[in-house]
Amino acid sequence: MPDQFGAQPSQRELDRMDILAGLTASQKTLPARLFYDEAGCELFGRITGLPEYYVTRAETALLDHHAREIVADVEPGTSLIEYGASDERKGVALIDAAPGTLVTYVPIDIAGPALAALAERLRRSHPALRVEPVEADFTGPVELPRTGGGRRLGFFPGSTIGNFEPEMVLRFLRQTREDLADGLDGAPVRFLIGTDLFKDRAELIPAYDDAEGVTAAFNRNILRHVNRICDADFDPDHFAHRAVWNQQAGRIEMHLVSSAAQTIALGERSIAFARGETIHTESSYKHTREGFAALAAQAGWRSEQFWTDPDGRFGLHALLAT
Ligand code: AVJ
Repeated sequence: MPDQFGAQPSQRELDRMDILAGLTASQKTLPARLFYDEAGCELFGRITGLPEYYVTRAETALLDHHAREIVADVEPGTSLIEYGASDERKGVALIDAAPGTLVTYVPIDIAGPALAALAERLRRSHPALRVEPVEADFTGPVELPRTGGGRRLGFFPGSTIGNFEPEMVLRFLRQTREDLADGLDGAPVRFLIGTDLFKDRAELIPAYDDAEGVTAAFNRNILRHVNRICDADFDPDHFAHRAVWNQQAGRIEMHLVSSAAQTIALGERSIAFARGETIHTESSYKHTREGFAALAAQAGWRSEQFWTDPDGRFGLHALLAT
């Protein structure tokens, strides 16, 4: 979005605009991508190892179990295009499952340094693999490398898509359908998408409100990140962590609850909080198999195959562009 001088705003300016818009809305919100500063990435890493947080373990078990089957119909010489590739482990599970099949790996991420480190690790562990990192915000159009006119397999693991509102899912799936097909002369395009499955509240709540308080620390940490971006003075200790299962919408919501009436300075502005007022910091949608397939169909994809982990907690769709 060009500004008045025709220049593209920087990521920092986009962050500031989104924060201000979110904190001046009647239900205050913050963009979930702001969880992932350095401390937030570390805390998320700890979340993935918590006994209550089944998501990462379930998806890893799914990939370990079914990797060969997942790539069985993939043409030799295909490029694996991973959206939001903060680490290569899931991609590698597919690459290693059928040598010669996925010969190029295109990790896409907004964090340049992490992407460079990932590429460096792969050069050592997989010297024959062609690695072409793309530093980009994948919520917009992404120009993909033309790797030898080969075929492309999209990959969006981790239930990252769970952070997207349904309209955003549609926009993303339409955009990626175009980007993945671009320059391929009509070759079929497939997209593997990992989604956490709809399940009982009793299992969901502890996963987002663990006994050790790691998720609470992760939630509060977003305020430190906002303090740095906007020159604000949030005190994370004045906000409590709350996880809510919104069954109607099919999503876990994380909120930060103001423990008192307080006014926060945000650069030149100030933001008033009533006691008990919340900032909605994240939605984590849980999709049924059929619900996600129906959403994908609206965006021009057919769910061709579907796998789950042995406990049926997590789902992986193989979508085919129609
Ligand atoms: C990285 C978006 C999949 O929604 O489960 C973990 C983030 N938030 N605990 C999720 C998260 C709280 C996570 N995703």
